[in-house]
Amino acid sequence: MKLLITGGAGFIGSNLIHHVIDFPEVETLVNLDALTYAGHLENLEGVRNHPKYVFEHVDLRDKAAVRRVVAEHGITHVMHLAAESHVDRSITGPDDFITTNILGTFNLLEACRAAWADDLQSRRFHHVSTDEVYGSLGPTGYFTETTPYAPNSPYSASKAASDMLVRAYHHTYGMNTVITNCSNNYGPYQFPEKLIPVVIQSVLARRPIPVYGDGMNVRDWLYVRDHCAALWLVLTQGRAGETYNIGGHNEWANLHIVQLICDTIDEFKPELGGNSRRLITFVKDRPGHDRRYAIDASKIQRELGWKPAHTFQEGIRETIRWYLDHQDWVCTVLKRA
Ligand SMILES: NC(=O)c1ccc[n+]([C@@H]2O[C@H](COP(=O)([O-])OP(=O)(O)OC[C@H]3O[C@@H](n4cnc5c(N)ncnc54)[C@H](O)[C@@H]3O)[C@@H](O)[C@H]2O)c1
Repeated sequence: MKLLITGGAGFIGSNLIHHVIDFPEVETLVNLDALTYAGHLENLEGVRNHPKYVFEHVDLRDKAAVRRVVAEHGITHVMHLAAESHVDRSITGPDDFITTNILGTFNLLEACRAAWADDLQSRRFHHVSTDEVYGSLGPTGYFTETTPYAPNSPYSASKAASDMLVRAYHHTYGMNTVITNCSNNYGPYQFPEKLIPVVIQSVLARRPIPVYGDGMNVRDWLYVRDHCAALWLVLTQGRAGETYNIGGHNEWANLHIVQLICDTIDEFKPELGGNSRRLITFVKDRPGHDRRYAIDASKIQRELGWKPAHTFQEGIRETIRWYLDHQDWVCTVLKRA
């Protein structure tokens, strides 16, 4: 397998590279990343000198460069993660979401179609997407692989569009594709603009912790290491042309997660004075804020035998501990953003 991972310097991509690089199936691992504010080579210190690892500093919007990377390295498998990923940024500035998430995916599909023309079947294109494409749920029910798409933010709309392109390349050209739609991830190396690291940093700095609306928006949280294990299974064993939903069966209202983080940091760092919950500050809700996401992950469990290996209690404690121990990483990535 000559594996191309796009977005490998981001949160999930860097965890994924650590997860797969030593697998015997992987002969070469090429990381294509434009190093936006969200991409940091510091996330990959441990693999920088690995004999299988190659870094390509390339923007997906540069069609010729993407073509070169796929052809030059004889890529056989793609795991496509690179994207603009922050919903708030998609509301204030949607342009990059359209160009990177839609045109970037198109460029990558075209590069693969050209390079793989002689043998589309034995190659594989794995597109990594989000449950946000399905829109918002009421208090009950779950997203399945057949739930109609109903994206509500420029971010989710751009991801939905890219999913549709991948689907079309399977049906039109016979490309060997798989798509995964995953719920909210948490874990090490998540850029401190997303809920969990923002809360950790606010508690440490004794700053107000911003919580949107009434804090009762519900998300299904999955430890990033469990997501990486699922991605590998789908890449290697998923059926061509199929979509697999990935989720933790672990629903939390935002406010309750924030309270849990406050209490855990109070326990880990009593010297901060305790009672961190008093820092919680409700702020004006995000426009178009989806109320609830919840994934039905029974297909991947049934077909590929995947289920999360970590409980939320373990994963969140490991994650908080990681941020406490890596404040130098937080400073470095925030300085460059
Ligand atoms: N984080 C989550 O909870 C979550 C959940 C489900 C799905 N996803 C999907 O997983 C993927 C990775 O998410 P993440 O949270 O790791 O994102 P991230 O924002 O942490 O990382 C994105 C990476 O893509 C790179 N990138 C951005 N634009 C690029 C371009 N034009 N060309 C090349 N590289 C570019 C960035 O430099 C960065 O390294 C995304 O496709 C996202 O939609 C994320």
